[in-house]
Amino acid sequence: MQYHSWLAAPVRWRLFRVFLIFLVVVSLLISYLYLKNRPSYALYDVIARHEVAESQRFARNSPENKYVLFKQLQGAGFNNQAQEILLYHHLALATSRVYVYQPIIWRPRGSQATVPLSAFMPGVTRNSLSAALFEEICSPEETKHVKIRVNNPSLWEYTKQQLSGNEKCIVVDDWILNWDYLASPALHDVWPEFQKYLAKHFQWSKPIQEIASRARTKLNLRWDPASNDGEPYVALHFRRGDFEGHCESLADHHTGFTTWATLPSLSPSTYPPTLDTTNHTSSIEHCYPSLSRIVSIISTAVQDKPHLRTLHVLHDGAWDHPLVYAQHYKLKALLTGAGGPMKRVTHSGQVPIAWGEADWAVAVDVELARRAEVFIGNGYSSLSTQVVALRLGADGGRAEDIILL
Ligand SMILES: *[C@@H]1O[C@H](CO)[C@@H](O)[C@H](O)[C@H]1NC(C)=O
Repeated sequence: MQYHSWLAAPVRWRLFRVFLIFLVVVSLLISYLYLKNRPSYALYDVIARHEVAESQRFARNSPENKYVLFKQLQGAGFNNQAQEILLYHHLALATSRVYVYQPIIWRPRGSQATVPLSAFMPGVTRNSLSAALFEEICSPEETKHVKIRVNNPSLWEYTKQQLSGNEKCIVVDDWILNWDYLASPALHDVWPEFQKYLAKHFQWSKPIQEIASRARTKLNLRWDPASNDGEPYVALHFRRGDFEGHCESLADHHTGFTTWATLPSLSPSTYPPTLDTTNHTSSIEHCYPSLSRIVSIISTAVQDKPHLRTLHVLHDGAWDHPLVYAQHYKLKALLTGAGGPMKRVTHSGQVPIAWGEADWAVAVDVELARRAEVFIGNGYSSLSTQVVALRLGADGGRAEDIILL
């Protein structure tokens, strides 16, 4: 008797086809759910068309306008782009030029995908020009290209001089607000004026404001110290995810804190021991602090503040970083267990993000940290430094209510 394989060949082939179809259906479903969860392209198209119409009206009504287009970061996270865009807008206004704004590169939708800026920060797009219209408004004859090749301490003032001429349109061809400049003390000179800029021009879009206020209600958090609604809270930026490897490379390169975390007024805010970038262990201690260090910092922060027993944790747990959730629950157990400093812990995963709102979640995180009574942030993170800028700049908050891990 001859042995046959378990199934006859035609049956095997049929099963294989069924399996293939199953795979295709599942992957289509996953991509559908993933995109559907974000604002639709149709909505972004409407917003982008509105930007163009507003820009056209503005340019037509103000023929005397002078414009500046900067070379900007193409990619990186939302807060890296946001902080750069705000600084460029400030620089344009400081030189009486109209800022030519570009969309935000939105990596979750694809490496070159873009979303309209006003869907996030409408304050920047008001009385500014959409880059989509730049060539229409600025002919090559009316446009001057400049290269800024100076050292960090003179960069800001030198660029201001370069932009102060009468040319109708200027394009700055160098990426002037590069990582090196943003980490240098030269940035501190910009801070006094930039604070005023933030107070006057910074604004989140409507959906971001609405989701944040929905989150405040659902999580029972208090924004206004004078009100009795919700509970006053501490916000902690628990930056994990891809940061472990990132911190190792920052430590290897002796990199210190970024942007506003380097402000001298914040050095008393850094939890001891002081960061020593020549010491690998010290860099890791501040960039990727252990859970026990975080617990000590929170305990110290609320020691003399018995009314602060609620903590809201901003974290980056997601389907591609599931271990962050495990760390979060471990931290929560340490904080709320016997002798722990907290009674209640809420977190990013509980923010009520509705269907079609996922792109805005990161900005809502920033807003919830901005409104907290005390903010504990990571000086290596642009999300944390954005929170710091808004608290101190836009809201006139106190450095004493900020702690850097
Ligand atoms: C490096 O930093 C760690 C952590 O702060 C500290 O314990 C250690 O003494 C430092 N080493 C040196 C040589 O300063």
